Amino acid sequence: MQNQKITVPIIKSRKKENKKITMLTAYGYPLAKLIDEVGVDIILVGDSLGMVSLGYESTIPVTMSEMLHHIKAVRRATRFSLLAGDMPFGSYNTFPQAIKNATKFMKAGCEAVKMEGGREIRDIIEGLTKRGIPVIGHLGLTPQRISEFGGFKIQGRGKESAEKISEDAFLLQQAGAFSIVLECIPRELAKLITEKLKIPTIGIGAGKYCDGQVLVTQDLLGFNEWTPKFVKKYTNLSEIILKALRDYKEEVMANKFPAEEHSYE
Ligand code: KIV
Repeated sequence: MQNQKITVPIIKSRKKENKKITMLTAYGYPLAKLIDEVGVDIILVGDSLGMVSLGYESTIPVTMSEMLHHIKAVRRATRFSLLAGDMPFGSYNTFPQAIKNATKFMKAGCEAVKMEGGREIRDIIEGLTKRGIPVIGHLGLTPQRISEFGGFKIQGRGKESAEKISEDAFLLQQAGAFSIVLECIPRELAKLITEKLKIPTIGIGAGKYCDGQVLVTQDLLGFNEWTPKFVKKYTNLSEIILKALRDYKEEVMANKFPAEEHSYE
């Protein structure tokens, strides 16, 4: 049970305190309520929404209005966790567009926005943070660039690619980002970046040396049959749900449900 409201300064201070940051995704009211209740520091309405909840093949089709719809639902469930929203593909190509869309996120209840990219969005991040919109960066395997990468592939393995990610991390910090998600990069590179930065790193598939960890909640709950290597399934919810659904169907067919205690006299 959490009873302290998590804020941006609290997240930033975790690095000095050497206290890990926890972050999970949520797209709707019921799961967000449970995540908030257990005291996860940051709830991210990720654009993974597109693949996990809306059935798209990638995050590319996700729109601003889809994100806003889900952010509002998660906002209604969130009391203590910091609420961050993922800016969808094509919503921050220019600064005027980014400020307009990030403002919509904040008005819908976000306390921070997350954006994928390095040096190419440095000025946009600087402009947003200067206007009071806290930004979480996202480097490494950035799913909005999946076509360019040729699939969900680990990034930062070669010297050049590792140096670029590392330099980008520094540029995002300079631009005012208050933390950076590092996705699918070698753990030694994540360690190097984490040691170099003053702001916390939050890893997904980036090993244990990051200042915090994030996962897609449905992955850790075992909702999806296939999950990437870096996911630990803490339970197998799809099996549990399937059993309940089958039991319901069988009992109705056999006239066992509703029993007397489920009906009125
Ligand atoms: O979209 C998302 O859910 C994310 C996290 C997995 C970091 O970007």
